[in-house]
Amino acid sequence: MCEDFLVYLFGYGSILWRPGFPFIRKFNAYIKGYKRMFYQGSTDHRGTPDAPGRVVTLIKQPDDYEKDDWITWGTVYCIPDEEAEVILKNLDYREKGGYQRIETDIFINGKEGSHGKAILYVATTLNEEYLGDDTMDNIANQIFRSVGPSGRNLDYLLKLAASLRKMEVSDEHVFELETRVLEMMRIHNIPYHHEGKTNGMTADSPLTATSSSSSDIVASETLMLQKKYFVEPKGTLVIDDGAVQAISQRAKSLLPVGVVQVIGEFDCDSLVSIMDLNRQEISRGISNYSSKELSLLVGTHSGKIISVLGFSRGEAVVTNKNLILNNTFFSYRIHMDYYL
Ligand code: BEZ
Repeated sequence: MCEDFLVYLFGYGSILWRPGFPFIRKFNAYIKGYKRMFYQGSTDHRGTPDAPGRVVTLIKQPDDYEKDDWITWGTVYCIPDEEAEVILKNLDYREKGGYQRIETDIFINGKEGSHGKAILYVATTLNEEYLGDDTMDNIANQIFRSVGPSGRNLDYLLKLAASLRKMEVSDEHVFELETRVLEMMRIHNIPYHHEGKTNGMTADSPLTATSSSSSDIVASETLMLQKKYFVEPKGTLVIDDGAVQAISQRAKSLLPVGVVQVIGEFDCDSLVSIMDLNRQEISRGISNYSSKELSLLVGTHSGKIISVLGFSRGEAVVTNKNLILNNTFFSYRIHMDYYL
């Protein structure tokens, strides 16, 4: 087929492992002036409206940034001109969560100038589901926890990393998140093996993801150790709706401003139950503060902790690493493995 009758489609996300459309051939290429980032919220594929996951979009290089190291490698799919309209319409639907089509130059190794123009999907910073930057810890946490109609968010990340590795392409942001999520999976006894890459857990490890002894999935190694000593929570924190949203949807730490009531007597570093205003337990975690300290901190902004207590053990009452969502809900989300 003559090249003039082919449309180039540049994939840099899920299209790499699941194009879902016919193509004549494909080749690896890169685009300039963009970086692939897990900055787009996903409420329809790898998360839900209540608990969005994170998927990749392309972030444009700032105008005042002078170096030319903002490039993104992907795969160009060559599709017949006459099929392009239907394929793109289907992709428009599949990627309706905030993405729009743009066209840009593609480049290949060993060639100076543009190799042609390709169509690609980008979610701009202005779309409703855009989440933007956060700490790598928070992003990894959110990916680890989230699941949606297309499956676990962590599978999206691991498949993306595996696809890039197969293409012999490096991507610091993606590989760093992969390392963090694999480590969380190891801590939570969730095995992972893919083409020689493993997180050290095997399906027949003494604690597998489905064994009854690991049914309490914990959010950090600390919590796992503490669990031995604090099977029953030592006290309860009742938190407001804003704090419920922050910890369950955005994987944030619990701050004193969100605490409305402290029940029971406990020391710092104790396991506490975290309840919403209806007294439903939504989470458990290790409290950085004792019940006495917390009763003084109820509703306080983190910046005022020192002026209230005369000292601080950090701005969070429970940091997100030491926080687990309600066990049933959490393990359901982590182990549920369904795909489109
Ligand atoms: C991609 O694979 O290129 C892609 C897929 C969906 C949304 C954005 C990008």
